[in-house]
Amino acid sequence: MPTIGVIPGDGVGPEVVEQGLAVLREAAGRDGFRYDLRTFDLGGERYLKTGEVLSDATLEDLRRCDALFLGAVGHPGVPPGVLEKGVLLRLRFAFHQYINLRPVKLYPGVETPIKGKGPDEIDMVVVRENNEDLYVGAGGFTRKGTPEEVAIQTSINTRSGVERCLRYAFDLAKSRGAARPFRGLSDAERGRGLVGQVTLVAKTNVLTFAHDLWMRAFDEVAADYPEVKADYQHVDACCMRMVVSPERFDVIATTNMFGDIITDLGAVLQGGMGLAASGNLNPLRTAPSMFEPVHGSAPDIAGKGIANPVAAIFSVAMMLDHLGGSSTAERIRQAVAKVLRQGVPRTPDLGGSATTAEVGKAVKEALV
Ligand code: NAD
Ligand code: IPM
Ligand code: MN
Repeated sequence: MPTIGVIPGDGVGPEVVEQGLAVLREAAGRDGFRYDLRTFDLGGERYLKTGEVLSDATLEDLRRCDALFLGAVGHPGVPPGVLEKGVLLRLRFAFHQYINLRPVKLYPGVETPIKGKGPDEIDMVVVRENNEDLYVGAGGFTRKGTPEEVAIQTSINTRSGVERCLRYAFDLAKSRGAARPFRGLSDAERGRGLVGQVTLVAKTNVLTFAHDLWMRAFDEVAADYPEVKADYQHVDACCMRMVVSPERFDVIATTNMFGDIITDLGAVLQGGMGLAASGNLNPLRTAPSMFEPVHGSAPDIAGKGIANPVAAIFSVAMMLDHLGGSSTAERIRQAVAKVLRQGVPRTPDLGGSATTAEVGKAVKEALV
């Protein structure tokens, strides 16, 4: 029986996690999917009380879990970075969660701000490299606080780290295409046997060292996947095209920093931050993977009971896929889809006036 480590965290984190767990309990019960829960008190309140962010002993307890479900970290009373680096990034790195998988899918009934586009046009997955780049914390200051101050933050890109991310993206495009060929391919491309596409999103025209490595690795990996079209976009143009023609994307492979940025944009395409889910994956399964909404602790709405729990509920579904509970995951996605399609209840981010708990309850009741 798998043990799920739960980190409710800060702000709206505990509010949406509660609904995610309630839906999990109900859906798992129907399939006889059994699990243990273990809750970890981490985040801003605990740090302010104890001065501790994440101890080595707690890290080892988390490592013994089979998967982690996290709400969000980030607290207005704690300096930026303390919790984000100390909890979230530490777990992503320590547990070798080198893929951050972020689906961007518009569900019927949800409004996208992109004019003239619907569920047929908005269905892509971002494979964000999750262990390298500007996120590793390589850097420092010299002459801090003086007019001559220098601040350096280095982007680390290793050949092996880049390659494993790209291979994951190509494998994913291949399996998505096997289920249903990517609609953005021309008839001629399909005739040549192509089923999917990976778009590398980088900035090879400026980052002529780091992204040269990405491009060379991309070309080499692409050669191993004749059924997947290899596509490239500079990140600035990618942002523009995600808005203007989202239908041209299938799988996007990108760096940690660019992936962070374009997935908030992706969240908006699919209806907002309240809907976007993610998985920090350790594909080798040498340590637990971690599932969380793309959004943060949302201090502006925390404590009001109005956060949209759907991103957290979709994250639970991704976690179930990872734990071998795909039928329960599918059950949950279908229940959310039904609630979204019928249009009520809806939290204020989607134009409604329902509470977090009311949406959670509606999803539970929509489970078949
Ligand atoms: P945010 O994602 O928390 O909020 C951005 C906007 O989206 C806000 O207006 C918020 O109200 C809205 N929003 C977010 N989640 C929502 C939900 N479930 N339902 C409805 N609306 C929602 O980003 P931010 O304000 O830039 O960051 C706040 C804090 O969260 C910061 O401390 C940041 O470092 C942290 N953060 C943590 C994570 C994480 O734990 N994974 C992710 C992003 C940001
Ligand atoms: C996210 C968040 C994190 C990131 C922060 C809080 C460290 O924005 O998960 O998208 O930048 O990865
Ligand atoms: Mn982010």
